[in-house]
Amino acid sequence: MVAVAFYSITGQTKKFVVKTGLEAHEIDDAWPQYEMGEKYVLITPSYQDFMMDSLVDFLNYKDNKKNLVGIIGCGNRNFNDLFAQTAKKLSVTLKVPILYLLEFSGTDKDVKSVKRIIKDLSKGQSTKEVQKPKELRGNISFLSDYR
Ligand SMILES: Cc1cc2nc3c(=O)[nH]c(=O)nc-3n(C[C@H](O)[C@H](O)[C@H](O)COP(=O)(O)O)c2cc1C
Repeated sequence: MVAVAFYSITGQTKKFVVKTGLEAHEIDDAWPQYEMGEKYVLITPSYQDFMMDSLVDFLNYKDNKKNLVGIIGCGNRNFNDLFAQTAKKLSVTLKVPILYLLEFSGTDKDVKSVKRIIKDLSKGQSTKEVQKPKELRGNISFLSDYR
């Protein structure tokens, strides 16, 4: 299986990960420096950048940036263009694809879809073959260079 790491501030992302039943590393505010040591997918909620220091510390630790193969973004669509802004910014900055987007702790469909994505990646499928979330095909006004 491809590994999974996630970050959660208010618990929604954690709830989602628990629902998937996937084994996953939770990025810890008290000690974010944890080495994944293998290819992994990051599941992240979205907040303003200044709230994401632990996530940045985790990504900057050892080979964690290099081993990141895909991002699953959680957020709230009421934020409109800023929906899943953390996932979108990381994707652009690190040149790693967004594999899926969901809100809060996800629906049953989200759980099923993400389990499928992780399973497919674990079978050696390239992230390029994973279908891009629909809303990333249109314009993203605050990050016009995305895609
Ligand atoms: C202060 C604050 C800022 C947020 N900013 C965004 C945002 O910019 N974009 C977004 O899609 N969701 C935003 N959200 C929604 C969270 O990303 C969403 O509720 C997510 O499920 C929370 O995950 P967590 O409980 O694992 O931390 C924000 C929520 C809060 C409380």
